[in-house]
Amino acid sequence: MSYPILPLQSGFNKKDFCCGKDMLDNYIQKQASQDLKRRLSAIFAMVDDSRVIGYYTLSSTSVSRELVPEDVQKKMPPSYHDLPATLLGRLAVDQNYKGQRLGEYLLMDALKVAFDASEKHIGSMALIVDPLDEDAEAFYTKYDFIKLDSGKMFLPMQTIAALFK
Ligand SMILES: CC(C)(COP(=O)(O)OP(=O)(O)OC[C@H]1O[C@@H](n2cnc3c(N)ncnc32)[C@H](O)[C@@H]1OP(=O)(O)O)[C@@H](O)C(=O)NCCC(=O)NCCS
Repeated sequence: MSYPILPLQSGFNKKDFCCGKDMLDNYIQKQASQDLKRRLSAIFAMVDDSRVIGYYTLSSTSVSRELVPEDVQKKMPPSYHDLPATLLGRLAVDQNYKGQRLGEYLLMDALKVAFDASEKHIGSMALIVDPLDEDAEAFYTKYDFIKLDSGKMFLPMQTIAALFK
């Protein structure tokens, strides 16, 4: 079964979303619409009819050059102290829909959106995530995200490009 992924709209049912992590449930139920209005995040929802069953958020961020792996650092011009990147702030799937590869589908969609934007609209040399806990870290490790000293995780846009070119 495939479900569409759409920019979050006010008509979607967000109140029943439950992924089992309060922070991520509260975010989509109570804060997401405000963040959209303030342009803090772009928010994409996977829907079953109009019910939100998964979501992710993207924002602009930067990463200090000292934090990125040395092989990547060497390729960056020294004048860039902070490197432009894209933040995958949150990603979650409703408990009733887990284990159907929807998390992977959401992640791939986020990678594609971030990659397209970096090609056509705004420079970004990596996708960054800030894993909530060990569970989240294990999920991102599966998809080759590299852990940085800051605790955040990093996937070079060059690696992402290879998936879509
Ligand atoms: C993590 C999460 C998004 C995974 O979604 P899902 O739809 O259940 O996962 P999928 O069915 O797409 O799984 C794809 C693969 O990832 C693996 N996987 C899923 N959750 C995992 C985890 N926590 N740790 C390690 N691997 C995980 C699956 O086993 C599967 O592996 P396979 O290719 O070997 O079969 C979901 O469990 C969730 O919303 N968790 C709570 C919120 C959260 O922690 N979000 C992450 C960061 S903010």
